[in-house]
Amino acid sequence: MKMQGSYPTIPVLDQRQGSLKIPPTAGAHAPGLVKDGLNRPLRDLRISVTDRCNFRCSYCMPKEVFDKDYAYLPHSALLSFEEITRIAKEFVGLGVQKIRLTGGEPLLRKNLELLITQLAALRTTEGAPLDITLTTNGSLLARKAQALKAAGLQRVTVSLDGLDDAVFKKMNDVDFPVADVLAGIKAAQDAGLGPIKVNMVVKRGTNDHEILPMARHFRGTGVVLRFIEYMDVGATNGWRMDEVVPSAEVIARLRSEMPLVALEACAPGETAQRWGYADAQGQFDPALGEVGVISSVTQAFCTDCNRARLSTEGQLYLCLFASQGYDLRSLVRHPEGMVDDRALGDAISAIWQGRSDRYSLLRATLPPEAQGTGARRVEMSYIGG
Ligand code: GTP
Ligand code: 5AD
Ligand code: SF4
Ligand code: SF4
Repeated sequence: MKMQGSYPTIPVLDQRQGSLKIPPTAGAHAPGLVKDGLNRPLRDLRISVTDRCNFRCSYCMPKEVFDKDYAYLPHSALLSFEEITRIAKEFVGLGVQKIRLTGGEPLLRKNLELLITQLAALRTTEGAPLDITLTTNGSLLARKAQALKAAGLQRVTVSLDGLDDAVFKKMNDVDFPVADVLAGIKAAQDAGLGPIKVNMVVKRGTNDHEILPMARHFRGTGVVLRFIEYMDVGATNGWRMDEVVPSAEVIARLRSEMPLVALEACAPGETAQRWGYADAQGQFDPALGEVGVISSVTQAFCTDCNRARLSTEGQLYLCLFASQGYDLRSLVRHPEGMVDDRALGDAISAIWQGRSDRYSLLRATLPPEAQGTGARRVEMSYIGG
């Protein structure tokens, strides 16, 4: 292995090569709740339905890498809707209550409504419907919001990195206008896909001057705006610590103009810290709503991380920053590896029980020059955000 400074690097391989060995399942069968090696339950399953996107956000799919020669997965490699539903059902049996469809851009996957209909029929271990949601760049939302709602989608999260066209176009790098995303958000609200969340990744020097305009725009609209610290995810975005705007600074900037009060988390293991807009008396005003910050760089939230990720081709990843996954597709597709539902559930259970991933927590213990380096990681467009 080649050493760079004193930190190991892994030679460049196709990110999608090589899977981890699924641990033995003897003793893994535990109907109901399963906990990992750090006592974290499995609650949230994020499913990437395509590795393609019509945007080229510099922090996620930079144009220089994701160009016309980039080898996206062939259709035959993707999990079918039936395969996804079969795998999801086993996750739900182990405690999953929330499913998020991601990508790439999930609305590029043909007939996605059919998948949503299948997932909406699943029930949690307590017999309740799942919380089914989707992360989108909003470009196709105006066209699809009604059909998504009718299929059983409950809510959407829309990515939007600024209100100024020039800034937003610089972020999406495909000349996509803000107005079309806002129209998508409006259509989603009208279709009843709320409460809608808007995610803004903040990069210092590129869009951080849009923090206040975004807050002013969404305050009092029922849309929950969340500011995300730019992360060192994947291996292509050229991440640098000095481009991260710490959430504490975001909150300080907001407070310079709008009073805020801290709100309790809605659920354990939540990614965002919530802040409520306050009235003249300094009390939370529900009519003004709330904002959030997602601080995976400056305040890791691994301690309660209950998220599993299923990649576009059926690899199970235990962390957003993992470099390898477990090949679940081979358990549901290939005649020689095919297993029954119980054995599939046992395999997932055994994998989760062996989990000790906590990348962001560990990264924070590294010296600054080592942060953002290290093992080659999968891209977020492949594993899902
Ligand atoms: P809801 O609040 O229920 O809508 O879900 P969520 O907070 O998980 O929302 P979302 O999927 O929108 O996540 C927001 C962003 O947080 C993602 O786009 C990522 O940038 C980041 N994120 C989500 N999950 C993780 C995680 O497990 N680890 C880290 N480090 N970042 C995450
Ligand atoms: N840092 C932070 N968030 C990211 N996303 C993608 N890449 C990054 C990154 N490098 C998240 C954004 C976007 C969603 C699809 O994925 O939240 O809205
Ligand atoms: Fe596409 Fe979302 Fe990645 Fe931007 S952040 S390139 S919209 S998947
Ligand atoms: Fe979970 Fe990994 Fe994110 Fe930590 S870095 S919160 S373990 S996905």
